[in-house]
Amino acid sequence: MEFKNLTVEIEKPIAIVTVNRPKVLNALNLETVSELGAAFSMLEANADVRAIIMTGSGEKAFVAGADITEFRGKTAPEMIPFAKKGHDVARIMESMGKPIIAAVNGYALGGGCEMSMACDMRFAADTAKFGQPEILLGLIPGMGGTQRLARLVGPGIARELVYGGEQITAQRAYEIGLVNRVYPAAQLMEETKKFALKLAAKPSHALKMAKLAMNYGYDLSLDNALMVETQCFAQCWSHPDLEEGVSAF
Ligand code: COA
Repeated sequence: MEFKNLTVEIEKPIAIVTVNRPKVLNALNLETVSELGAAFSMLEANADVRAIIMTGSGEKAFVAGADITEFRGKTAPEMIPFAKKGHDVARIMESMGKPIIAAVNGYALGGGCEMSMACDMRFAADTAKFGQPEILLGLIPGMGGTQRLARLVGPGIARELVYGGEQITAQRAYEIGLVNRVYPAAQLMEETKKFALKLAAKPSHALKMAKLAMNYGYDLSLDNALMVETQCFAQCWSHPDLEEGVSAF
């Protein structure tokens, strides 16, 4: 599948999705958001791919937010589908069975921070910057930032970032739990690929069940979440990976 604003490279057993609009620091217009949804759906269906990396082209940005040039002259009813599309794509990423690692190579602002939060984990270059600067434009995050940020870092710090709109360094993002690992910029992709390959080598059905249990259980009461876990746990018995893993042990 060809994309106008993305590249998708398959290096079996991993795939790399790169937002490719470097002239605008990989800002997300509606077309790019739609393409991301199509790319992740395509990769979910590709049996050769077992783990995915999302990154941005160039050295400066992962994604510098929604494309602000698309905001001018728009009305709320015209912009709601944009936010909705962002939500839908994030849900595709969270509900698919394969792990996605964001390799945050530079600015992850607004929709960039939001898309990185829809990934399973975030590895960042030491030069990366994170933030939800929408408030500075008279806006609020519209692709899940008011919700996912609080779930990841807690409501107090999330409020500080959403109300204040300030950018934070990769190191600070690591300290608050937004980022899993920080690497020197030149090593980010190599290290992220190494980790993606490790995940790709894990029993894929069990990994899918772990992801689904964690993502679907998150918003439920503990009792209901434990029921989701039980179902996903039970599903592992329907797959030959279990027999293989237990026998190997
Ligand atoms: N939407 C559209 N275009 C964007 C953009 C965005 N979110 N972010 C950057 N760009 C464009 C700039 O307009 C500029 O285009 P130009 O070369 O035609 O003038 C180009 O990308 C480079 O950006 P520039 O601002 O010159 O780089 P910088 O290094 O001085 O600053 C940022 C980088 C990320 C701090 C700055 O671009 C910025 O604040 N961007 C907006 C971030 C934002 O508010 N995101 C949330 C949107 S809801």
